[in-house]
Amino acid sequence: MKKQPTRKPESAPKPGAAEDQDSQVLADPTPDEREDRWNLRPRTFAECIGQRDVVEALGIAIQAAKERGDSLDHVLFYGPPGLGKTTFARIIANELGVQFKGTSGPALERGGDLVSILTNLEEGDVLFIDEVHRLPRAVEELLYSAMEDFTVDIIFDKGAHARIYRSSLPRCTLAGATTRAGFLSPPLLQRFGIFRELHFYSDEELVQAIHRSAKLLEIEIDDPSAAVLAKRSRGTIRIANRLLRRVRDYAQVRADGRITPQIADAALALEGIDDVGLTPLDRRLLEVIVHQHLGGPVGIDALAATLQEEVQTLEDMVEPFLLHTGLLARTPKGRTATETAYQHLGVERVEKREGKRKQQELL
Ligand SMILES: Nc1ncnc2c1ncn2[C@@H]1O[C@H](COP(=O)(O)OP(=O)(O)OP(=O)(O)O)[C@@H](O)[C@H]1O
Ligand SMILES: [Mg+2]
Repeated sequence: MKKQPTRKPESAPKPGAAEDQDSQVLADPTPDEREDRWNLRPRTFAECIGQRDVVEALGIAIQAAKERGDSLDHVLFYGPPGLGKTTFARIIANELGVQFKGTSGPALERGGDLVSILTNLEEGDVLFIDEVHRLPRAVEELLYSAMEDFTVDIIFDKGAHARIYRSSLPRCTLAGATTRAGFLSPPLLQRFGIFRELHFYSDEELVQAIHRSAKLLEIEIDDPSAAVLAKRSRGTIRIANRLLRRVRDYAQVRADGRITPQIADAALALEGIDDVGLTPLDRRLLEVIVHQHLGGPVGIDALAATLQEEVQTLEDMVEPFLLHTGLLARTPKGRTATETAYQHLGVERVEKREGKRKQQELL
């Protein structure tokens, strides 16, 4: 294969610049992403915080592909929201010096949507499909040959007059992102050569991320205040970035603009975030298990019904962090609240309470 045309990698952030040319296919970004995109996203592996295993593995794969003059294997990123799936996909394109085109599973309604994107790609480009587990079946099936042989079948007319035209595609890299690798069908899953799970960030990594973002946003924050924010960011840089902006606003309006640990505490309490980063919904989920189901086990459907939330919201947005911090446990029979959860909520287990009561009666 001929050498790919390479573009100069970007490194300097472009505050306020407009989004690049992927917008025609990119699903609406979240408001958070729109605000963050140009200011805070790292552009290179060197700028990335944490996820060292991901950075190292991708660095090797990218260098090897570049040396061979080949396209990079298809990559799948999975993990809870806000940990860097989109960021890493963009970095891959930047480090390879190729174009990044982004879309998402639900945005690709018909096969034709995908075909027009694929046929417009250039050699080596990165096509990012967010929420790849939500691709409609017919679209997903078109991807199989595109990923494996770089060909796509275009069907003209219908019924007896149908003609199939096989078009060859440039050798490109598909970068898929999903919050649930388990939801991908085996044929799709097997066509990815690189799988990378993104993990929650440690408090130290979050402190680094907060300092990095504060510098880019020209916010002054000291270590103790950054530590307060880090502890309440649910292991997620996106949340840390959001909280940093809320704390900055609070410091500006309620104080002299300087962020102190006390100001950070007060601002985060106002956001409803408790001292370990739990949101009101996190706490409600634990409280339902503890108070209404005596600590569990309770099925996710029953929890979703009581909380009036979608099962998917609970599974994608709420549970991963509660499981990560050991506040929640998953058993074959359902979810249970752990001892740590009882301690955090300041509630005594019923058996313990009953035990104590019986002891007192005996005395
Ligand atoms: N390794 C990292 N170093 C520094 N900042 C990061 C890193 N990873 C992510 N971020 C920051 O966190 C924010 C969220 O990352 P990103 O949008 O890539 O998450 P995501 O996994 O795609 O989330 P979602 O599942 O919601 O799409 C980005 O705006 C970026 O600023
Ligand atoms: Mg994303």
